[in-house]
Amino acid sequence: MGYIISDDAKDLLGDIKNFCDKEVREQAKEYDRTGEWAEDMYNKARELGYTALEVPEEYGGIGLSRIDIAALLEEMAKADAGFAVTMSATSLAMKPVLIAGSQEQKKKLCELVLDGKMGAFALTEPDAGSDASAGRATAVKDGDSYILNGRKCFITNAPAADFFCITAMTDKSAGVKGISMFFVEKGTPGLSTGKDEDKMGIRGSHTCDVVLEDCRIPAENLLGKEGQGFKIAMQTLDQARTWVGCMAVGVAQRAMEEAIAYAKERIQFGKPIIKNQVIQFKIADMAIKIETARQMVANTLNKMDAGIPYGLDSAIAKCYASDMLVEVTSEAVQIFGGYGYSREYPVEKLYRDAKIFQIFEGTNEIQRIVIANHVIGK
Ligand code: CAA
Repeated sequence: MGYIISDDAKDLLGDIKNFCDKEVREQAKEYDRTGEWAEDMYNKARELGYTALEVPEEYGGIGLSRIDIAALLEEMAKADAGFAVTMSATSLAMKPVLIAGSQEQKKKLCELVLDGKMGAFALTEPDAGSDASAGRATAVKDGDSYILNGRKCFITNAPAADFFCITAMTDKSAGVKGISMFFVEKGTPGLSTGKDEDKMGIRGSHTCDVVLEDCRIPAENLLGKEGQGFKIAMQTLDQARTWVGCMAVGVAQRAMEEAIAYAKERIQFGKPIIKNQVIQFKIADMAIKIETARQMVANTLNKMDAGIPYGLDSAIAKCYASDMLVEVTSEAVQIFGGYGYSREYPVEKLYRDAKIFQIFEGTNEIQRIVIANHVIGK
């Protein structure tokens, strides 16, 4: 099981595995308990360039294929879902620039990310979650500036982000075609972040509101043209959803490995419970589902690399992998029995971490709308 990756990626995978073993796996338990921002861990990770894996080679990146990156992200997710989500949220925030930015904007972004800077993608608002086009944040042109006002919520990485890609209405009368996308740097007067969400899972990652109060940015920070923001956001999510699937595979793989290790140790009725066919079948079903999801992720990433349309595949990969993750972590808790329900054992956290994968980057109900629109036609 696993992706077929390049030799360069194999070396990096070894490094990331070591890093995760030393700096993430054990520490994540404490961050999960306290909900504190793992500043040291993230500073080390960004110094090592783990937030910059998706920087294209032409802008100074190391030139990994998307499948290579998937193997690395899966390894991070195996160590801690919150850690992987934090790393991949910077890649998410890069996408609007890489999709719609000018050469200059792309260059600037990539320099920031290669320098270890982190990003956040800000689309969701209190009254615009699944209905992403209902956002009320505004951007008013004023000479060589735009003035942004509004509130974004559930923004991953916001407290630590050095840059943001933010949607705001430039023309309220134009509906979805009045939404534009902006690049905003940390420290811009009028941009602030709210208090951290006290989340059920992925507690090592940080999530909060982004508040825009007369936040003046240079007009050149518009990405693409006025009115293209919704399309750019949808294209961003078309790509990003596959990475959610990829992380779900990593967390599920960890749950299966934990369940196997426990079942080999746990003696009941005079033998390890792994000797029971019912446990073996549970493990086999986990392996089937995990590998199916991994292949969906791989197929979608291959299409992205080849420039073949992938929106449908990405929604399917995200939806299947996240539903699979909740099933697999639930079965892992079941194999652990009463101990699985205790915080003393690892699978309880995995089960809590799993749930968000069915919700963020578009709920699985929204994925099914996207899938139905593709296969039936809107
Ligand atoms: N690519 C390009 N254009 C697209 C597109 C796509 N994938 N999807 C839609 N569009 C275009 C349409 O073509 C249409 O333009 P035209 O009129 O020119 O054809 C326009 O956008 C409007 O499309 P729809 O009428 O289909 O839009 P809608 O309002 O019905 O919404 C939706 C569609 C799929 C439900 C969308 O609102 C959606 O994806 N909602 C979920 C939002 C979401 O995923 N939020 C997650 C936030 S990020 C996050 O969670 C990250 C994190 O913190 C970790």
